Amino acid sequence: MKLKEFLKEISPRISKKNALAVNASPRKNGNCRKLVSLINAANPKISTIHLDAFRILPCEGCLNCISGSCPSNDDFTKFINQMKGKEAVIIVSPVFFCGVPAQLKAAIDRCQFYWSSKIKPLKNCEGYFVLTGERSERDLICCEKTVKAFFATLGVKHIKSYYIPKNEIS
Ligand SMILES: Cc1cc2nc3c(=O)[nH]c(=O)nc-3n(C[C@H](O)[C@H](O)[C@H](O)COP(=O)(O)O)c2cc1C
Repeated sequence: MKLKEFLKEISPRISKKNALAVNASPRKNGNCRKLVSLINAANPKISTIHLDAFRILPCEGCLNCISGSCPSNDDFTKFINQMKGKEAVIIVSPVFFCGVPAQLKAAIDRCQFYWSSKIKPLKNCEGYFVLTGERSERDLICCEKTVKAFFATLGVKHIKSYYIPKNEIS
């Protein structure tokens, strides 16, 4: 989708909401950061976080979370707390090898606690997924599947996904 068209479409959906944009790219001053800044410029009320500011360890698959305690001591809870109470969450991510970057995938995998406990930390929250890449919109198929699972696990209602080609931004 063209950048202008995207901003025109997403703005009325989020502008009056208590919304949070999450930049999932580890690249400083990259395309996702620019995209998040543009979303923010068009919708000044929304807040922004950068996932690389959080130290989130990958899930070890120990399943200790089933009994209520994850052994990883990091910023995962801090990250989830940033999303709590939001009416809309917009995940902005690059494609990395047909998937989402390891940093975002680590955060998603750590939601195993919410998946097994069926606890939904977010309520009445709409989810948007914005993917940017160089090659093909088809990358949205696999990335969207992962992000939709993330949203469903957190209690977020997925509304729409967008693919913005890199050359629209940089
Ligand atoms: C490790 C790595 C893997 C990538 N894999 C893909 C890919 O599979 N498909 C694609 O279209 N672009 C791929 N790209 C390009 C990025 O998705 C693209 O440049 C994106 O706009 C970068 O956003 P950023 O600057 O916010 O990190 C890859 C980039 C990196 C660094």
